[in-house]
Amino acid sequence: MTIENNRKADFPIDDQFIQRWSPRAFLDKEVPEELLFSALEAARWAPSSMNIQPWRFIIARTKEDRERFHSFIMDGNRVWCEQAPVLILFISEKKGGAHTFDTGTAFGFFALQAMENGLVTHPMGGFDKEKAREVLDIPDHYQLHAVVALGYQGDKTTLTPELQERETPSTRRPLQASIHEGKF
Ligand SMILES: Cc1cc2nc3c(=O)[nH]c(=O)nc-3n(C[C@H](O)[C@H](O)[C@H](O)COP(=O)(O)O)c2cc1C
Repeated sequence: MTIENNRKADFPIDDQFIQRWSPRAFLDKEVPEELLFSALEAARWAPSSMNIQPWRFIIARTKEDRERFHSFIMDGNRVWCEQAPVLILFISEKKGGAHTFDTGTAFGFFALQAMENGLVTHPMGGFDKEKAREVLDIPDHYQLHAVVALGYQGDKTTLTPELQERETPSTRRPLQASIHEGKF
């Protein structure tokens, strides 16, 4: 995986944080179950408010299940994520004071472990949440967050010309621009 020069840490960190990014090109190759479950296992160990563990993961890895997911994913995402062998919807039970925060942390853990397992992830908020709720029979007391595409990274030439241009790791604003010391 080539990580461009624009992805340099201002302070020393483990390389995994820099190496993880969200490509759109996927190989037509199945994800072994142990690698999928290993990444979900990492998510399981995320911290959560009062250890409620509000996250739930809805997995689509058969053709039939993935097609059901494709039916509610926005066209701009569907064009590339149809190639992904696994799609996972991250949802949370609306319980405790921080179910969204907790589930985001779970995704972070998932994404890093997936990368350690030689896989790539791409989260998507661009899907019809009402339709997804209906199609997947998700009760009202769960909130839908993101569909995550999971698989082996593919060659960018498999993407549309427009997406090929965007198939590169992004940078970050300087750390100092996110920090307020003492008070906002
Ligand atoms: C909650 C969430 C929703 C996102 N939605 C989309 C999306 O609908 N389509 C897309 O292509 N990328 C989506 N992304 C990916 C972000 O654009 C990406 O993570 C960000 O640009 C940082 O790039 P990196 O993950 O490659 O480091 C989403 C990311 C998150 C965390």
